[in-house]
Amino acid sequence: MDIREELQALSESAPARIAAASTMEELAAAESDITGKKSPVAAARRMLGKIDPDQRREVGILIKRVAVSLQRDIDARRSVLLLAEETADLAADAIDITLPGRGQTVGTHHIIQQVVDEIIDIFVALGFTVARGPEVETSFYNFTALNIPDTHPSRLETDTLYVDYGDDDEGVLLRTHTSPMQARYMEQNDPPVYVVVPGKVFRSDPLDPTHSPVFHQVEGLAVDTDITFGDLKGTLEMFAKQFLGKDTEVKFIPHYFPFTEPSAEMHAYSNGRWLELLGCGMVNPAVFENVGYDPSVVTGFAFGMGVERLAMVRHGVTDLRYLLENDFRVLRQFV
Ligand code: PHE
Repeated sequence: MDIREELQALSESAPARIAAASTMEELAAAESDITGKKSPVAAARRMLGKIDPDQRREVGILIKRVAVSLQRDIDARRSVLLLAEETADLAADAIDITLPGRGQTVGTHHIIQQVVDEIIDIFVALGFTVARGPEVETSFYNFTALNIPDTHPSRLETDTLYVDYGDDDEGVLLRTHTSPMQARYMEQNDPPVYVVVPGKVFRSDPLDPTHSPVFHQVEGLAVDTDITFGDLKGTLEMFAKQFLGKDTEVKFIPHYFPFTEPSAEMHAYSNGRWLELLGCGMVNPAVFENVGYDPSVVTGFAFGMGVERLAMVRHGVTDLRYLLENDFRVLRQFV
């Protein structure tokens, strides 16, 4: 075949071959066939010397034009394949940053713990310290040291949950109030004493809207050389105003506890009605004697409050059981 025809055929068939190359390897093979050493283009160049001198220039121009045009096609195809390869590599490496993140749920203290902390904060600001005591108690600290007589009905199993430790378990119980820590604390510490004691207490009560066999109290005890009933009233009134609002009114109603004399209940006026908030009184001298304090030197006041009750008053909860069921719809309201 004439060189010119061969080049013409090549320039017609090669572009399709170049365009069909779908990888760099296929393109390299096509390039070698089209413009490489064994290609028609190379063969044509080699034959140029043997061509009739008056046609040499024309054929030379043709070879060059075909070679340049095909090389341009090859280079263009190479750019396309290179870009496609890079794009594919990037896609393979990609991290999908459009996925929604996995959020952290931030927990909070339970409403009862929040109220315990609030109560304690108020007394700590007044100079009280915080102490804790055992939930399993002896009847000595729960009753006897607190001047509660052996015949008192609260000692009966109808009211108190006793712990069965075998033969000599007489008088081991779940504390029915936080008051045993009054006796324990005074035994361990000299006056003056300004302490609050939060903790769980237990009573043989069925669960109903206002009772639970387990609940929380905060006990308070102030003992010094000149504590008066005026200090008790001032301290607890200040507490009520801090806890329920500065316009809260309080009144003290005479009551009876064996470990305080005189004893009272403090009621507070909140949301249009009077509510019993806590029990209190001046520490009975008999208790001072039981713990080795000299009642001719020290006086003091004590109080005990139910945390669930205060939480219900404070947050308008009408059924105690809402606070204990751990229903998220309830708990979430107190974050
Ligand atoms: N311990 C009493 C109760 O549980 C409350 C109280 C504490 C009363 C301290 C007076 C002084 O009811």
